[in-house]
Amino acid sequence: MSGSTSPVIEFRQMQIPDVPAVYRVETDAFSSPWTMEAFEQEMLQNEYAYYLLALDGEEIVGYCGAWLILDECHITNVAVLTAYRGHGIGEALMREAMRRTAGKGARVMTLEVRVSNDPALGLYRKLGFKEGGIRRGYYTDNGEDALVMWTELNEDE
Ligand SMILES: CC(C)(COP(=O)(O)OP(=O)(O)OC[C@H]1O[C@@H](n2cnc3c(N)ncnc32)[C@H](O)[C@@H]1OP(=O)(O)O)[C@@H](O)C(=O)NCCC(=O)NCCS
Repeated sequence: MSGSTSPVIEFRQMQIPDVPAVYRVETDAFSSPWTMEAFEQEMLQNEYAYYLLALDGEEIVGYCGAWLILDECHITNVAVLTAYRGHGIGEALMREAMRRTAGKGARVMTLEVRVSNDPALGLYRKLGFKEGGIRRGYYTDNGEDALVMWTELNEDE
């Protein structure tokens, strides 16, 4: 990211041509990233998938993936490019995802997060997520536990 001021971030839904740029964010953010094919399948074959992008101009700098099933929104992943972190983009992206999915009928948002992931835990707690339980050994790469978190969504959010 260039300059010292925070960029103006815009949001839009992900489409199939965005897959390589989203994969770039994914590989920057995660040690066990999803594959390009996984994102393609989400776009082409998963009718429940709802993926929101954060853009600095033309550049995709973050994304939030969700499965929207009836009144429940399950977050699959949230990531912001390393160079763009700490500027409120992750929070703004999640708030936008909460607002948009609530507008589509979601009343509860849930997610799993590694128990060691302090930045993500801080973000979700700030957004009002509560801890719902532990999934022991949920992450297959290192056997780490997942904390299940959830929050209610308001239609007028
Ligand atoms: C989690 C992540 C999306 C946060 O994105 P971000 O744009 O840097 O976050 P923001 O700047 O919007 O921060 C919002 C809040 O999150 C929390 N937070 C962000 N970074 C943090 C850190 N390093 N340590 C602790 N809390 C942190 C704070 O509560 C912060 O609010 P504050 O600025 O008022 O203190 C980003 O760190 C990321 O992409 N991480 C790698 C991928 C990942 O782990 N995703 C979550 C998978 S469950």
